[in-house]
Amino acid sequence: MYASMPTFLEDRIATFSVEKVQKAWGGRNIFHGATPAADALHLSSNDYLNLLNEPVLIEARAKEFLHAERELLMSAVFLRGESPISRLEDKLARFTKFEGAIICQSGWTANVGLIQAIANSKVPVYLDLNAHMSLWQGAVSAGAKAIAFMHNNVSHAERQIRKHGVGILVVDSVYSTNGSLCPLTDFANLSKDTGCVFVVDESHSLGTHGPHGAGLVAELGLTSKVHFLTASLAKAFAGRAGFIACPSIFKDYFAMESYPAIFSSAVLNHEVAWFDKLTDFVVQADLRRERLHSVTRTIRNALSELGYDLSSGTEQIIALESGTECQTMILRDALESYGVFGSMFLAPATPKNRTLVRFSVNSGITDNDVDRLISVCSKIRHEIKLDSWPRRKARGVVKPPTSSSSAVPRDC
Ligand SMILES: Cc1ncc(COP(=O)(O)O)c(C=O)c1O
Repeated sequence: MYASMPTFLEDRIATFSVEKVQKAWGGRNIFHGATPAADALHLSSNDYLNLLNEPVLIEARAKEFLHAERELLMSAVFLRGESPISRLEDKLARFTKFEGAIICQSGWTANVGLIQAIANSKVPVYLDLNAHMSLWQGAVSAGAKAIAFMHNNVSHAERQIRKHGVGILVVDSVYSTNGSLCPLTDFANLSKDTGCVFVVDESHSLGTHGPHGAGLVAELGLTSKVHFLTASLAKAFAGRAGFIACPSIFKDYFAMESYPAIFSSAVLNHEVAWFDKLTDFVVQADLRRERLHSVTRTIRNALSELGYDLSSGTEQIIALESGTECQTMILRDALESYGVFGSMFLAPATPKNRTLVRFSVNSGITDNDVDRLISVCSKIRHEIKLDSWPRRKARGVVKPPTSSSSAVPRDC
């Protein structure tokens, strides 16, 4: 006998099943696509430098597992003195050229914990409309007013700050839904001019961009203008943790004020060993970075020529934005029928009716993989009715929608 659920929750789950699964998705869960075959081309992993299966890194982690000294399992707030975590923090601070760094349990907890610890009901948080959900949740957790500005629009951000007052300005360096690049220098200058705290989420550029992978803030010489740099280490760093680069003086404050640091246990030594070794590997990985960027360029150029509107993206995250959830399921099914697997992104990760399939490119993709992807995207254009997709700009060989090929969603 299981506990029965109260009506308010039963109704909520039933609404999901009816409104979403039955009505909007034609009876299928939108995330349940085909099962990939052994030769599938996977473009859904964020392991941008293809490091997850690197033997030398696996060995470092295994060694720590096998020969670990007695380890304490507790929240970071209780950590004392030098430890594997504090040594990794120092290493990552040097790597990003910041004074200090804090290791968190994930990119999510880094962002939620940071914004919660620095904003409050009197300190507004200004966020790019496409900023990662964890940054918005930080504002919620702080009880702060979250004020949106249009994507990458510095003058709109400035108008919002002048209207609502000094606060915290938050951007991603590379946006996770469509791979667009933030004009970081302009935002850094805006934060300086207005007296705002400047927070940059470098999850999708740390390791992949900048000198030896040190990120875009380092590349653009903005370290002295960025107060906090955050990152998920579940992208190019191929593990499970997050990180904040910050002034040294902030570290003790964060440990005592940030809920995830107090109320959730710290990462373990075998995870630290992985990141320690991996940081050295990333520093040396210029060839992988070059490969990542050149594969990205080739795929982007080819897909644009085929008529796909890749919106304003330029980096290794490539979004095929097809419009409604139904249309995107048709796109996903078509890609998967040829063995190409990306990730579905829908509201609340995207605005409503701007659903997309996201390809995450990595440096291990071969020329054959690239040819295969391009040929599949070419073959399916008719099947997915590419010429009926809503688009921000008409490009390439496919004509913009007309009344006869209007963007009417087909049945799922
Ligand atoms: C920009 C950005 N920030 C933060 C996160 C959260 O990272 P994690 O998966 O380590 O919690 C993600 C992951 O989706 C992300 O894309």
